[in-house]
Amino acid sequence: MISNKKKIFFKGSYFPPGDKSISHRIIILGSQAVGKSIVTNLLEGEDVLNTIKVMCELGANIKKKSNKFIIYGLPPGSLFQPKKKLDFGNSGTGIRLIAGLVSSNNIKTVLIGDKSLNSRPMKRVTEHLSRTGSIIKLKNNFYPPINIKGVGNAIPLNFEIKIPSAQIKSSIILSSLNTNGLVKIKEFRSTRDHTENMLKSMGYNIKVKHDENYRYIELKNDRLLKPIKYQVPGDPSSAAFLITGACLLPGSKLLVKNILFNKTRIGFIETLKSMGGNIKVIKKKKLNNETVADIFVDQKRNLKSVLVKSSKIPLQIDEVPILSIAASFANGISIFKGLKELTVKESNRLDLIHKNLLKIGVKSEVKGFDLYIHGNNKLKKGNANIIHNHDHRIVMAFYVANLICEKRNIIKDKSCVNTSYPSFFKDITKFLN
Ligand code: S3P
Repeated sequence: MISNKKKIFFKGSYFPPGDKSISHRIIILGSQAVGKSIVTNLLEGEDVLNTIKVMCELGANIKKKSNKFIIYGLPPGSLFQPKKKLDFGNSGTGIRLIAGLVSSNNIKTVLIGDKSLNSRPMKRVTEHLSRTGSIIKLKNNFYPPINIKGVGNAIPLNFEIKIPSAQIKSSIILSSLNTNGLVKIKEFRSTRDHTENMLKSMGYNIKVKHDENYRYIELKNDRLLKPIKYQVPGDPSSAAFLITGACLLPGSKLLVKNILFNKTRIGFIETLKSMGGNIKVIKKKKLNNETVADIFVDQKRNLKSVLVKSSKIPLQIDEVPILSIAASFANGISIFKGLKELTVKESNRLDLIHKNLLKIGVKSEVKGFDLYIHGNNKLKKGNANIIHNHDHRIVMAFYVANLICEKRNIIKDKSCVNTSYPSFFKDITKFLN
């Protein structure tokens, strides 16, 4: 396949780093449980480390002891008045979730972030939180800093969420932890449900029902959260870079151990399989209401093109950058529909994917919010200067693209991978033969 390049493939037994979404949530919810919670395999990326610092500023006691994080929490409603602004760095999950948590506590605070976070929409979260009685101000009515004057007696309400976003839902759920009465949420079924699963594991009174399209959540504030022992499963969104790399390189045999296999997170595996990726589940188990698996990529053939419908995008929203690299090398035109949410991530990912694909020699078109990639299994020219605007997933995706380019692309300042996957370069080197 890669005729004028040395044949390379992925091989070995790989443990992806701890899941980022779950790591944020266990730090926040552990901090709301009175007693000692013990967390292993926490992701120690910059985003999660910022969440730890913020929760300590709000009164939690979180310490690392050998490979464990020990959390002593406070009961809901008793967060400390922070002495300084709460800094979330690059993390949309951190700022949005903790905005919800502080909004129902009697404290006044300012939530800030870096240049990228300061250009991301927050109204989608705060318009819901303001209804409960907290007073919230945004820059230009839209962006961080978020100024919050929380209320200790937030009003229990019914919420309907119109954007498929786990961050909006989780922000409302966290505000409801200190809301007396019944809170009801209706949202799209396709968003990740780790907050709900963790609350169930911690003995909280939460009921979740669903029909084909929607999820209905009811939270009754009549029970405290119990401390928990939690082993964070491997992050499918981080593993996606090596898994896709393995599917792109026939001859690869990559065993991925202990990966989070929650249905709302593995849309990219279904997409790779329909492209001809040979991925098999070896073992599956349930741990704290989450499914965890060992999977094996045994790739023999080149990939073929795919059509991903917009209804399936939320199940693989963070994996579109790396899937666009898979599509570039798959014979035929691949179409990813309904990528509007991709334009408001750590960067405008739709724009950066499109521009960088063109630069490395792949025909790409954007029509509305749909992405068309004209793929074939020939080497791409490469030799491009990748524009990434310090977006970790763009850097990692185009680093993998180097495997299919004749000449290496230049990626300047790759330090942003530390937000989600500090050992990325080490892992990719270790498993590439
Ligand atoms: C996340 C939810 C998603 C995802 C993000 C992490 C979470 O964002 O893109 O990387 O942990 O809740 P949205 O909820 O805005 O879709």
